[in-house]
Amino acid sequence: MITPTRTIQRTPTGIPGLDELIEGGLLKSRTHLIAGETGTGKTIFSLQFLLHGVKIGERGIYMAIDEDRENVIRGAEGFGWDVSSLLEKNLLSITQIVPGFAEKFKKKYIEAAVGSVIVGIRQEMMRIGATRLVIDPIAPLLTKEEDLPFTREYIRELVLAIERELGCTTLIVSEVPTGSNTLSRFGVEEFLASGIITLGILRKGNEVYRTLCVRKMRWTAVDPVLYKFRIVRGEGIVVEGPISE
Ligand SMILES: Nc1ncnc2c1ncn2[C@@H]1O[C@H](COP(=O)(O)OP(=O)(O)OP(=O)(O)O)[C@@H](O)[C@H]1O
Ligand SMILES: [Mg+2]
Repeated sequence: MITPTRTIQRTPTGIPGLDELIEGGLLKSRTHLIAGETGTGKTIFSLQFLLHGVKIGERGIYMAIDEDRENVIRGAEGFGWDVSSLLEKNLLSITQIVPGFAEKFKKKYIEAAVGSVIVGIRQEMMRIGATRLVIDPIAPLLTKEEDLPFTREYIRELVLAIERELGCTTLIVSEVPTGSNTLSRFGVEEFLASGIITLGILRKGNEVYRTLCVRKMRWTAVDPVLYKFRIVRGEGIVVEGPISE
């Protein structure tokens, strides 16, 4: 018999039209990949997930890797999201990982790099009592080709450490190179994630759509269907119906 403690716990995204596609939300305390080409809405998705958390009493941390903290705040405010007051009230944290991080991608540094990121996240988690986490993007985009094995190992270690030591519901963001058919930039993110949501842009005849697909969600009945969505100022992503053939 299934007892309530054994049922899968869900963390709602609050994104209109999405939670009902995934049995109520993301998998609690697990890592999910948000993947897509540049400009497809990954950052908006991530912030919307954190802002919904605040609405239902779950605080969140947004770790910016390649973008300046102030830019993220300015962008979100310009979009119509009053993040400043949430930051002041410690309901939300927007934290930037220091540049120079990419140069240190050598094997002996992986453990230290992951350790320092985990310490930084844990401090913020304790400070505000967060249970939601976003890392956008998961690794610096300027990683050199020869650093790929190190980057993959770093991502692997970081995701495992987050799940083992922090236990928050996490989104890792991966920018997929334009025109490529891959699920993630570094080729390991998809295997580490319990769920994958891909965002894209589709041209069909004279129409151009923003698209969302739940590519994988463990223990969840999902259809591999492409959905249309809109980005609405002050609200974020609004998922509409499936794209018909
Ligand atoms: N008020 C708005 N109304 C509609 N669309 C908007 C609005 N503001 C921003 N957008 C769209 O949202 C997109 C940016 O989304 P976002 O920054 O989340 O993308 P991203 O996938 O994170 O991009 P990157 O890979 O560059 O970080 C832009 O392409 C822009 O067209
Ligand atoms: Mg972004």
